[in-house]
Amino acid sequence: MQLLSPIAEIPVWGMRFTYKEGPFETEGILVRLNDTDVRAYKNECRHLPIPLDQREPAELWDASGKHLCCSSHGARYRPKDGLCVDGPCKGSHLKQLPLQVVDGEVFLDTSQIGGFFNV
Ligand code: FES
Repeated sequence: MQLLSPIAEIPVWGMRFTYKEGPFETEGILVRLNDTDVRAYKNECRHLPIPLDQREPAELWDASGKHLCCSSHGARYRPKDGLCVDGPCKGSHLKQLPLQVVDGEVFLDTSQIGGFFNV
């Protein structure tokens, strides 16, 4: 298990973190849906294998603040399940990462992270 953050300290625009995927240091994003519900995704667009947020963390979101948004070509993803609802990869999903919440703290369940052949 890898401690990511207390839920209460996750910024409204989400936060980045790094984790190991096989031998590779990989970046994830952690978003808070409400006071008890969180999601984490690999920070990689499903259109091209590049990070969603090429710029500031606030730009993880579209102008409405309702969808995660890729800053390259504007793919928009639902925060609750990572479904791409608009853009060149519509219908695909961000890679969701396994979390556990214990006493208000969010952990990445590293025992369920696949190796680099399983990304
Ligand atoms: S790289 Fe994300 S929409 Fe094209």
